Amino acid sequence: MADQNLSLKELSQTIAVQTDILTNALSQHGEPNPSFNVAGPSTYPFIPEVQAARSILVECASKLLQLANGPEDFIVKSSLQHRYNFVVMAALVRYKILETVPLDGSISYADLAAKVGLPENRIFRFLRYARALHLFYEPKPGFVAHTSFSAAAVKKRTLQAFMTFGHEQTSNVNRKIFEVLEKYGDSQSIEETAIFAAYDIERGQTFWDFCETDGEGDKKGWRMRMAADCLEAGSSAPTFSDSHVHAVMDWDSLGDATIVDVGGNSGHTSIALAKGHLQLKIIVQDLPGPREAFEKLITDELRSRVTFQAHSFFEPQPVREADVYFLRVILHDWPDKSAIDIVRQLVEVMKPTSRITLMESIVPESDENMPSTVMHLISALDIEMMTNFNSKERTMQQWCDLMKAADKRLVLKSVGQSPGSALTGLVFGFE
Ligand SMILES: C[S@@+](CC[C@H](N)C(=O)[O-])C[C@H]1O[C@@H](n2cnc3c(N)ncnc32)[C@H](O)[C@@H]1O
Repeated sequence: MADQNLSLKELSQTIAVQTDILTNALSQHGEPNPSFNVAGPSTYPFIPEVQAARSILVECASKLLQLANGPEDFIVKSSLQHRYNFVVMAALVRYKILETVPLDGSISYADLAAKVGLPENRIFRFLRYARALHLFYEPKPGFVAHTSFSAAAVKKRTLQAFMTFGHEQTSNVNRKIFEVLEKYGDSQSIEETAIFAAYDIERGQTFWDFCETDGEGDKKGWRMRMAADCLEAGSSAPTFSDSHVHAVMDWDSLGDATIVDVGGNSGHTSIALAKGHLQLKIIVQDLPGPREAFEKLITDELRSRVTFQAHSFFEPQPVREADVYFLRVILHDWPDKSAIDIVRQLVEVMKPTSRITLMESIVPESDENMPSTVMHLISALDIEMMTNFNSKERTMQQWCDLMKAADKRLVLKSVGQSPGSALTGLVFGFE
């Protein structure tokens, strides 16, 4: 991670080299360069050299920025500025500012304020903050227009769930973290968490059960719908892209295989998997709530191969002897005891050649083995697992130990990861 002796000059030289590699690779593949212009691309293509150069660039640019700020300014600015990112992002969604600013052309603050029903002065100040993040810009005084960064959340509306979720988490759940820590210490109970305290969730329910049932009338289940949108949006951004699923194991060698996507939510990963491997039949299992999101995503041509089944993974597994039980970011949600219960339901119905394939973050044993920007992301997920579930992100050894604790015959058969992915495929089977 942080090389203690890196200088501004060395970082800027690496940045110059990687920028050349990145822009040349994009040009060679006929892909546009990144730009703030509203017509600029919303994401990067999945070209290995592009993703590799981009990862180094992000890492070095982040270190350069921190060194250029210096320690004192870094601490003051980070604590002052970042806390309002979530408020402003949530305001852009809540007051439909993203959609009301036209994608082509601009709108005056006065017209925008009238359309969204907020005082002009407040709109202007939210947008001034947003403009500093390069979400929107002022083409002329008194007018506002989209950049590629704000436009991305209009073109892909599920991204807006992410913008809202940050505010929800920081304003409600995070304020309970210390209270819960001081009351329960290093608890392993899924009920002694900041999220349970924040929402006063009934004992005996899981957080996900609460997501299914929270809200009245049309709002019922809104948290599960928001989770489905976040998961779908996250899975098209390069770091968590569904495209990485192809690299987690050799799917083609399985032949006409049956895959169970355990806790597969809307089926977004299964749909990507089915498109890339025409011989696979996939059953997406989840609580009943995500069926609605599945119905929106599934296409007629895939319906015969990708189906949805409402099923709780704590109950006996109805699909016996599947070739692969696939769990993408499922077990990280659960402390060891519950994670073991989930795996044991699968072990009960496995045939000798069945596999349990996890797609999860792997926490490195040492900081040296991971760029700090990736460690930041995985650590953010880890703190989220702590506050929401008393769970954690795990090291490779912890994943292997967990599977062995579920059944001592379970051993790691292979590992697969594609460049730029924050998640790794861990394939377990019987010894
Ligand atoms: C972190 S999400 C991962 C979803 C999906 N695998 C993905 O990668 O986007 C966890 C999923 O577990 C599901 N889940 C929670 N409790 C469950 C249960 N008892 N049985 C089945 N699914 C459950 C949630 O509804 C949610 O879709």
